[in-house]
Amino acid sequence: MASAPLPDTVPETMAAMVLTGHGKIDKLVYRQDVPTPRPGPGEVLVQVTATAKNNTDRKAREGLYPTKEKGEVTSFAMGGEATLTFPRIQGADVAGRVVAVGEGVEAGRIGERGLLDFNLYPDARRDINLMPDYYGHGADGGFAEYVAVPSDQFHHVPNPELADAELAAMGMCSYQTAYHMMTSARVGAGERVLVTGASGGVGTALIQLCRIVGAIPYAVSQPEKADALLSLGAEAVIDRGDLATFVERTLAATGGAPIDAVMDLVGGEMTDRFIDTMIGDMKARSTYPRLSIAGASGGNLSEIMWTRIYLYQVQIFGVSHGTREEAEQLVAWIRGGDLKPVLHAAFKLSELHDAERYFVARDSNYLGKIVIVPDSQWNAHGARFALEGNA
Ligand SMILES: NC(=O)c1ccc[n+]([C@@H]2O[C@H](COP(=O)([O-])OP(=O)(O)OC[C@H]3O[C@@H](n4cnc5c(N)ncnc54)[C@H](OP(=O)(O)O)[C@@H]3O)[C@@H](O)[C@H]2O)c1
Repeated sequence: MASAPLPDTVPETMAAMVLTGHGKIDKLVYRQDVPTPRPGPGEVLVQVTATAKNNTDRKAREGLYPTKEKGEVTSFAMGGEATLTFPRIQGADVAGRVVAVGEGVEAGRIGERGLLDFNLYPDARRDINLMPDYYGHGADGGFAEYVAVPSDQFHHVPNPELADAELAAMGMCSYQTAYHMMTSARVGAGERVLVTGASGGVGTALIQLCRIVGAIPYAVSQPEKADALLSLGAEAVIDRGDLATFVERTLAATGGAPIDAVMDLVGGEMTDRFIDTMIGDMKARSTYPRLSIAGASGGNLSEIMWTRIYLYQVQIFGVSHGTREEAEQLVAWIRGGDLKPVLHAAFKLSELHDAERYFVARDSNYLGKIVIVPDSQWNAHGARFALEGNA
């Protein structure tokens, strides 16, 4: 079926940051002559006003997703074939406005402001997503002026109190992953949850989502971020610095009660200690210990004794992205004002290299998300969130 023609208001070419291959930052090339995508049947064309950065952009660029073979340089390939091909436009968490619709989509959607559910779902099922892939990896994403996406995954979020950059900062890559970590581990009201990587995109989402479901989040981070994490909803903040005393300090924060479930975004040598916060005294528990794993900011390999897992009945959940149902629940919470953006700074699309360097270096006040705004949208949507001196 043919793609829809572009309306007169949309130029034939656009600016985009194009990923030209696996490698270092120089593989990201800023171009101003990229053909503007046309919305296919069932799609909307979105004029991008803000796109959040995620760790996955860097990992996908560097080919850091080893799956079957340890150390293999690869990208997502859960269906057998690698879906990342080049050139590719990255950028998963897109906010913007509908400027054109494809066949079968109501023209009334033009002008709608919304947020993209970033998944390339393998099928229409609403409660399961067996092969996570996403816009910005298996298809072009939002580091561009326009992107074409399925109309049912571009969710209307009118809320005038939320700037577009703030809406992008609540994108699904972080929030849906966080929520799916919790639903997989069946986190319930009153449970004590250890939120690792707490100052990051997923961690700040986890803290808020724990409070929404009535759970009690204990944040693992660095002392200089403690005040911000406590204001976001953390019950206490545990310094991730001294591993030898980590368990003792965590149990001091809970008043001696075990952690019910760990949300592990860190991995490496910390995971074994995270397990210790749950299994020290099984008499003190009324549920199975649960470990939800969705990231590896501290290392991709962990050494764990299987006896500690099976004798203590630790339930382990591997988590990537989430389901359509979960995305829709999150959008409902965003519309209802239950979730708050944690936006650290905005950068211009043409300055994505600077944003990447800043993202990796992370200064001591860094909390939450970095958002990328197309240069043509900067004055309207980016400048007020720029780092000091960058406006
Ligand atoms: N499975 C999925 O679908 C999915 C989706 C999104 C993200 N992820 C993964 O989840 C992880 C977190 O993502 P994010 O977007 O939240 O990242 P982020 O915004 O970059 O945050 C990373 C967090 O990890 C902490 N951290 C960094 N290095 C660490 C270390 N060596 N030891 C302990 N903590 C460390 C940082 O804490 P401090 O502030 O204390 O330094 C920060 O809070 C990443 O590994 C990412 O690739 C997976």
